[in-house]
Amino acid sequence: MNKRIEEALNQQIIKESSSSQFYLAMASWAENNGLNGTAKFLYQHSDEERFHMLKLVKFINERGGRAVIPAVAKPAVEFESLENIFTLLLQHEMSVTESINGVVDVCLQEKDYTTHNFMQWYVSEQLEEEALARTILDKLKLIGSDKGGLYLFDRDLENSSISAAPANGGPAA
Ligand code: FEO
Repeated sequence: MNKRIEEALNQQIIKESSSSQFYLAMASWAENNGLNGTAKFLYQHSDEERFHMLKLVKFINERGGRAVIPAVAKPAVEFESLENIFTLLLQHEMSVTESINGVVDVCLQEKDYTTHNFMQWYVSEQLEEEALARTILDKLKLIGSDKGGLYLFDRDLENSSISAAPANGGPAA
C-alpha cells in the first residue's frame, strides 16, 4: 500500500477512535444527569464511530498496509449542558469532515482511485452527521432553558424520533 495513503488512513483511525471516546464520555455524562434518551443516542453514536474506525482498520490491512491502533486519550468528564454537548459534537464532526477531505486529497494526489472510492462512503456519512448535529442543535437553541422542553427533547431522542445512524454503518436517520 502507498505509504502516504497508509499514513493518511491511520491518521483517520485516530480521529474516529477519538470520536468514539468523546461521544462515550458525553453519553456517560448524560446518563449521570438523568438524560436517558440523550445517553442512548450518544452511546449509539459512539458505537457508530467505532465502526467507522474498524472499517478503516480492515481496509488498510486487506490492502497490504498496516493499521495502527491508537492509544486512548481521556476525554472530558464534565459538560456544561446539552447545548454545550451538541455544540462540541458539531465542531468535532466538522473537524472530522476536514480530515476526511484531507484523505481524499491525498488519494487524488497519489492517483489511488480505489481508496478514493472507499472514502466516498465517509464523505456521505459526514454530510449526514453534520446535518443531524445541526438539526439537534437548532432544536436545543429553540428550547433554551425551558425544563419541559428539555424533558420532551430527551424523550424524543429516547424514542428515536431523531436517531443516530445504526452501528452497522447504514445511513443516519
Ligand atoms: Fe465517523 Fe462522526 O465521524
